[in-house]
Amino acid sequence: MAKVLTLDEVDLDGRTVLVRVDINSPLDPKTNLFLDDTRIRRILPTLNRLSKSKVVLLSHQSRPGKKDFTSTLGHARELGRLLGRNVKWVDDIYGKKALAAIENLEDGELLMLNNVRMDDEENNTKGGFDLMAETQMVQNLSMIADAFVNDAFACAHRSSPSIVGFTNTLPCIAGELMNYELSKLGQALENPKRPCIAVLGGIKVDDSVTVAENMLRGGTCDHIWVTGGVANLFLYISNIDIGEVNVNFLKGELGNSWEDTVSKASKLLVDFPECIIMPSDVALHMTGNRVDHPIQNLPIEAPIFDLGITSIRALSKAIKSAGTIILNGPAGVFEQTDFALGTVEMLNACAEGNGYAVMGGGHTATLVSQRGLTRKMGHVSTGGGACLELLAGRVLPGVASLEESAEQFRFSISKPLDHQ
Ligand code: 3PG
Repeated sequence: MAKVLTLDEVDLDGRTVLVRVDINSPLDPKTNLFLDDTRIRRILPTLNRLSKSKVVLLSHQSRPGKKDFTSTLGHARELGRLLGRNVKWVDDIYGKKALAAIENLEDGELLMLNNVRMDDEENNTKGGFDLMAETQMVQNLSMIADAFVNDAFACAHRSSPSIVGFTNTLPCIAGELMNYELSKLGQALENPKRPCIAVLGGIKVDDSVTVAENMLRGGTCDHIWVTGGVANLFLYISNIDIGEVNVNFLKGELGNSWEDTVSKASKLLVDFPECIIMPSDVALHMTGNRVDHPIQNLPIEAPIFDLGITSIRALSKAIKSAGTIILNGPAGVFEQTDFALGTVEMLNACAEGNGYAVMGGGHTATLVSQRGLTRKMGHVSTGGGACLELLAGRVLPGVASLEESAEQFRFSISKPLDHQ
């Protein structure tokens, strides 16, 4: 567990506190209403701890160019509803309007700034803490605030001004959700109950190969079961002809990282031939129907949309007898009922088995919650990329920032020991 400052160690009553949250949420494309409010619910503990502070919330929603790139007005309203308190909103991030609204805050009031990604500087994540500290957002907001709380675990892998810029300008403190995520994921990584298996699927294939590499080389996992696009890649490099349509899909998804990913995955297969478990059959999408075929029948020119029944059974059995399961990404095109079987069955197996199951990735978390399985899992992370990168052994910039800031400010901001 990282040596970060926590809310237990500081007294922020009466202070102006910037709170970076990640309430980037799936929105209905027609109505802009929230399809899933999990991320908003998960920041409530931090906000309840800051009930006597002047709270200034920073968040993003999607990114420029995407359809769901909206203002945060709806988020402020939804948060107010869930919190049972008024959440003010200002159509500004760090300009005159925002600064005036912050100055007018009373103790116990909350103000949400507009989507931080409406600021160009926020969208540059290439630079260290010092460069991010020079941005106008960090300069202006640092002048007016007493502390920065980072509760945006799901965004801790982004080195943007609103995540790492305040490292040396304000005491930076880990919020309750950030702390919880770090401790739960840390537990899963540090002392996994054996056998520990990872089930890696979805279409973020390059990220998954990096995760697999770190887990196998670092000895975290005993076996990696591959599903979804990740399985297709491993089948391909094992000289199974998965059909042009599937190879082209993978190439399209991987773009510039195709060659690098293929070479990394090939090396992994040579170094750990027994540890990577590939499907023995697949479900193909053929003239609108699900048709299962053993791998030996390939190539068949049809998209692979799910694991085949035999592989689903084998995976469920492995999950149920594992001590720890780290699962990320769907096993197939779960949005289509016929092809949701692999995904649904592996989640059911995690819920029914006795192993400690860690779920990562936006899709996975939403599915677990929709199926009412959350309480049956060891930990459901709010992070997608952040969770994957942490599990892959990377030090997340947002966490490194909290550690560096704690070293600098611990003595100036900590409560005396007898008050902690
Ligand atoms: C997420 O949804 O994973 C986080 O909000 C980060 O979003 P990003 O991938 O657009 O940076």
